Amino acid sequence: MSEISAVVSAHLRDVPDFPSPGILFKDIGPLIGDAQAFAAVTEHWRLRHQHRVDAVAGIDARGFIFGGALALALGVGFVPVRKAGKLPGPTVEKSYDLEYGSATLAVQRDALEPGQRVVVIDDVLATGGTARAACELIEEVDGKVTAFEVVLELAALDGRAKLSRWPVEALASS
Ligand code: PRP
Ligand code: MG
Repeated sequence: MSEISAVVSAHLRDVPDFPSPGILFKDIGPLIGDAQAFAAVTEHWRLRHQHRVDAVAGIDARGFIFGGALALALGVGFVPVRKAGKLPGPTVEKSYDLEYGSATLAVQRDALEPGQRVVVIDDVLATGGTARAACELIEEVDGKVTAFEVVLELAALDGRAKLSRWPVEALASS
């Protein structure tokens, strides 16, 4: 296990039966609450992506926490990929399937200059629907997705299968 993987794994908390019975929730609270662990995650990504990206995109909601920190560390702008209905002005939207039902993400149409290189950030990769919709939205507003980075991958759900078009890195896997 790599050093960053060990740090992340040591700072995730399993919460049974949240948000509903039978679900084992992966809580990032201890990770972002620990200054050194949070900084280690940001620094790991900064070293991988410095000089390689023009912007960071973070996925609503927990991807905002990690993505905002990374954008500051890299000295580039931040693009929020938000739940639909929250962003003003012209937007591009994409719906994706959840275990039960569906959801919609949105990006502002003018969020990027054409061809800008973007790393997309989220906390957890499960079925991959959220991440794929976010990456496709970045492309629809003329960005180039250089990678999808996630703190934790739930490997059994094989979300990577939906992300074969982009490099994917998970800091930890369970
Ligand atoms: C969780 C998690 C990822 C997504 C992964 O977000 O933060 O964004 O699910 O699931 P998937 O790979 O099956 O698409 P959620 O939609 O629960 O919302 P939140 O981040 O706003 O809490
Ligand atoms: Mg989320």
